[in-house]
Amino acid sequence: MAIIQFPKDMKWGTATASYQIEGAVNEDGRGPSIWDTFSHAPGNVKNGDNGDIACDSYHRYEEDIEIMKDLGIDVYRFSVAWPRIFPTGDGEVNPKGLEFYHKFVDKLLEAGIEPMCTLYHWDLPQALQDKGGWDNRETIDAFVRYAETMFKEFSGKIKFWITLNEPWCVSYLSNYIGAHAPGYQDLQLATNIAHHLLVAHGRTVQKFRELNMEGEIGFAPNTTWLEPFSDKQEDVDACNREIAYFIEWFMDPVFKGEYPQFMVDWFKKKGVEVKIEEGDLEDIHQPIDFLGINYYTGHIARYKENEGLFDWEMVENGYERTDIGWPVYHEGFYNVLKRITDSYGKVPIYITENGSCYNDEPVDGRVKDDRRTKYLKQHLTALSRSIESGVNIKGYLTWSLLDNFEWAEGYSKRFGIVYVNYRTQERIKKDSFYWYKQTISNGFFEFE
Ligand code: BGC
Repeated sequence: MAIIQFPKDMKWGTATASYQIEGAVNEDGRGPSIWDTFSHAPGNVKNGDNGDIACDSYHRYEEDIEIMKDLGIDVYRFSVAWPRIFPTGDGEVNPKGLEFYHKFVDKLLEAGIEPMCTLYHWDLPQALQDKGGWDNRETIDAFVRYAETMFKEFSGKIKFWITLNEPWCVSYLSNYIGAHAPGYQDLQLATNIAHHLLVAHGRTVQKFRELNMEGEIGFAPNTTWLEPFSDKQEDVDACNREIAYFIEWFMDPVFKGEYPQFMVDWFKKKGVEVKIEEGDLEDIHQPIDFLGINYYTGHIARYKENEGLFDWEMVENGYERTDIGWPVYHEGFYNVLKRITDSYGKVPIYITENGSCYNDEPVDGRVKDDRRTKYLKQHLTALSRSIESGVNIKGYLTWSLLDNFEWAEGYSKRFGIVYVNYRTQERIKKDSFYWYKQTISNGFFEFE
């Protein structure tokens, strides 16, 4: 048996995102987002699901905050729906949208929970998409204006800000792979978007400093780890490219003010270039206060010529998989954190997402999701190892508080530590909830 212990001042939390939980898509002046459009178009989301109602958290947030209080978390990461604040992206402010988040944030503060606010978790106002979305540099200006509005409005209340959630998903998953809104398949387009997102991030950080905001700001890229099947250079290089697609491609510009050359060369081979305008790299290269890291999965891979974008194939090695099919690979979590620290120094890191999809259903009112608890134990052990090795971990937030709208998978995939019955909206705390609660209150857990 081992005791896995965490620093006393480490913050514990959970995370969600607006479109995945709020519902109320037509209420109080909210404008349509690209996810409304995408999910309502046939064939994009499993079972034709959409976020119209989701967990109805727009109306049930008080109940959700009671659940958080019971869990004992220090910090709650949520996202603001940009189209509630600016229904057309860059026109008039919608006071009702601001009012909702004020009520919500006030309740959180009353409960003694620190709000961590993500400004962009994928619900781009449709009106901006109609003008080219993130491919159009005007969207950058609209984003900075929206961020500025939020900063001024919530000054003194919200002290942790995240500009972007998972810029890789916003760019490549949504515009090259085409699995998420708006659903394009164009590598050059996706690369333009990746770059514009970084510029938007950097200019937002500048705005935050200019306004002399109290608090901290960062961004939250998603990461993965591919372990080379062998020591052969071609295996090592292939894995390195895929890891860099998530880490260095988005973090080098922020921390070093440049793109990694080997990746620029690789993209060039694929006929794609990063279109950098004067001043962009300086804008992106702004000191941030913390880095948010999202990590779910990784695996073993080897070189395979002309396979996918980066010439590799996955090697099946019998790893356990979660119910969404992702291998459970906790060593990868440690490796990602080490790699980031080795490359960029001891940046303060919040794990802004880590969790698993298991679709256990309630039996006699109880959800026995032992596999989720095991996943949490394994990943928290990897986290604790990383801390021992000098990674500067400030907090850990699990994804997710609630089962919710899992994007292209609709409601068919459950990531919550709280079960949601989508018919009645009843919430049931799963076994993993109670385990997490105990761990938060102890600051350690035992691993047999
Ligand atoms: C996203 C979440 C999503 C989760 C599980 C992350 O990619 O930020 O919104 O639900 O992973 O797929």
